[in-house]
Amino acid sequence: MSQPNKSSLTEERIFKPSKDFSKKARIKSMAQYKRMHKESIEKPGVFWAKEAKELAWQKKWTKALDWKAPYAKWFVGGKLNVCESCVDQHLTNGRANKAAIIWEGEPGENRTLTYRQLHREVCNFSNVLLAKGIKPKDRVMIYMPMTPEAVIAMLACARIGAVHSVIFGGFSAESIVDRLEDCQAKAIITSDGGYRRGGVVPLKKNVDDALKKYKAVETVIVHQRIGKEGAPVKMKRGRDVWWHEEAAQVSSKHEAKAFDSEHPLFILYTSGSTGKPKGILHTCGGYLTGTYATCKYIFDMQDDDVYWCTADVGWITGHSYITYGPLANGVTQVMYEGAPNFPDFGRFWDLVEKYGVTIFYTAPTAIRAFIKAGDHFPESRDLSSLRLLGTVGEPINPEAWMWYHRKIGGERCPIVDTWWQTETGAIMISPLPGCTPTTPGTATLPFFGVDAAILDETGQEVGPNEGGKLVIRKPWPSMLRTIYGDKKRYRDTYWNDYAGIYTAGDGARRDKKGNFWITGRLDDVLNVSGHRLGTAEVESALVSHKVVAESAVVGRPHEIKGQGVVAFVTVKAGVKTSDAMAKELRNHVGHVIGAIAKPDEIYFTPALPKTRSGKIMRRLLKELVATGKVSGNITTLEDHKVIADLQAQLKK
Ligand code: PRX
Repeated sequence: MSQPNKSSLTEERIFKPSKDFSKKARIKSMAQYKRMHKESIEKPGVFWAKEAKELAWQKKWTKALDWKAPYAKWFVGGKLNVCESCVDQHLTNGRANKAAIIWEGEPGENRTLTYRQLHREVCNFSNVLLAKGIKPKDRVMIYMPMTPEAVIAMLACARIGAVHSVIFGGFSAESIVDRLEDCQAKAIITSDGGYRRGGVVPLKKNVDDALKKYKAVETVIVHQRIGKEGAPVKMKRGRDVWWHEEAAQVSSKHEAKAFDSEHPLFILYTSGSTGKPKGILHTCGGYLTGTYATCKYIFDMQDDDVYWCTADVGWITGHSYITYGPLANGVTQVMYEGAPNFPDFGRFWDLVEKYGVTIFYTAPTAIRAFIKAGDHFPESRDLSSLRLLGTVGEPINPEAWMWYHRKIGGERCPIVDTWWQTETGAIMISPLPGCTPTTPGTATLPFFGVDAAILDETGQEVGPNEGGKLVIRKPWPSMLRTIYGDKKRYRDTYWNDYAGIYTAGDGARRDKKGNFWITGRLDDVLNVSGHRLGTAEVESALVSHKVVAESAVVGRPHEIKGQGVVAFVTVKAGVKTSDAMAKELRNHVGHVIGAIAKPDEIYFTPALPKTRSGKIMRRLLKELVATGKVSGNITTLEDHKVIADLQAQLKK
């Protein structure tokens, strides 16, 4: 990488990939990027057909795109089995004995699965699912730790045409219930537990608790990750079965049948601005094409790479950049079960050194935690195998970018800051590592086929450095198809601001060079440690506690997490507030949603600031927590004393 200009943290600092990197990269120059981007926007069908052709199709499509806004169909008439592209094809292209997954458990054991072994496991587990009566389009929930079995379970669902819905292992039993009710899952695949920070997360027990409330699940398949000593579980006769016992009874041979390109692949729940999570639906052909192409060009995956994405399979990053994209590219990847700081903050760097990781993809929040932990952790490990770094999930602050560049990338690795969403399925805005000049803090330029723009309220494109709404003006293959069971919410959430144009919900600006700078969510969605969290979800969790009358939740900048959760709570008449009660409420939110949603601060207030018509004035609360003051027009506020009281509390 070339050295930055002298000036400190400004937009002036430009980093370009080294000549050596560019020479070997798929996209070698900005001229090549611009030419391909132009073609992809002008003739999306032609561009994407070329990418899709590299995947395994059993029947070719007749039309690349059918677009009746806001509904897209990609590769119409085509038939494929996603699993065939991710696994089977590598048995005959020279990769059969190549490591597909190098897995390390948190306690330190490791296991490698070649593509051949992965194929056998997936076929075997597909037969288990079939034996349990799972049919195409049936919904199957997956609630597992970061083990190869989580990936095997996803691929097996895809292979038999079932629709998986992975729930992050950090979510609570109550969150499982909400999602089960929404997608009406017939089966759940889980584990007895998973290791996290030296402890065991009782996954099966959480499933049992959820199934006390939602009773329509017919089968629970339990993978034994921990064993009886560490995680004793109760098995309900007729419903619960052990993965290994079922697997032993069925064959490891399975022929992959083709499904329609638009056959549903998975539902993944994400937070929106109401209390109810949205089930984002992705389908087979377009999603696979998008994740495949972005891995190929943005991570520049080559056959001798060792790639590691540190996300959990419970999030979209794990779906697109652990399971589908990397495997479709036939890459070798590292998968790690546990926490970055177990037994200490050197764990990630140990893994990079041990397995010779070349491409490393993580979240800014992790980088900030590493900065805080101290440079001696990366400095005492050999990170020279790394050639490319990536970030995802939230805007990366320039300081964190620079640290990543220097301490992890040894000033030689390009950094791809990738902007995208659960809804977009694949990366949308990102540098291409062999050509795009990067500057700390910007995700730079749109990927191929992505017609990104920033619009004002009237739908006009804003000028350089003016803020506005980030939109995508043309359909792309990996876009969500709908919100499961709620077409109206799909249209209202994403397609209502401007006709036929996708609104991402993020604010952004473009600099003079055309780089996109994402400024954050415009709706009531927080980004806590790179994870989306609706303020309404936290509020309804708080209000579900018996002492709470009303609550308002806002975000505030947080050194490590990006945003912290601040809750204002009014208790019911006659209830006495205390620190112990604040603690109880935090734990209650953890119980209802999961640990990531626990408020960092709780303020009790006799009333919330409201307009005369009774609407909570969140703007004031946001400003109050960010600056300690409120400015602007507060004439509509019903009771001015509320603000003065809160100000005094926050000062304390
Ligand atoms: O606000 C943006 C932020 O994360 C949101 C999407 O969250 P989720 O669907 O959970 O997916 C996260 C992983 C793709 C976006 O609306 N976001 C994601 N990546 C970036 C980002 N903000 C700035 N820069 C990024 N690179």
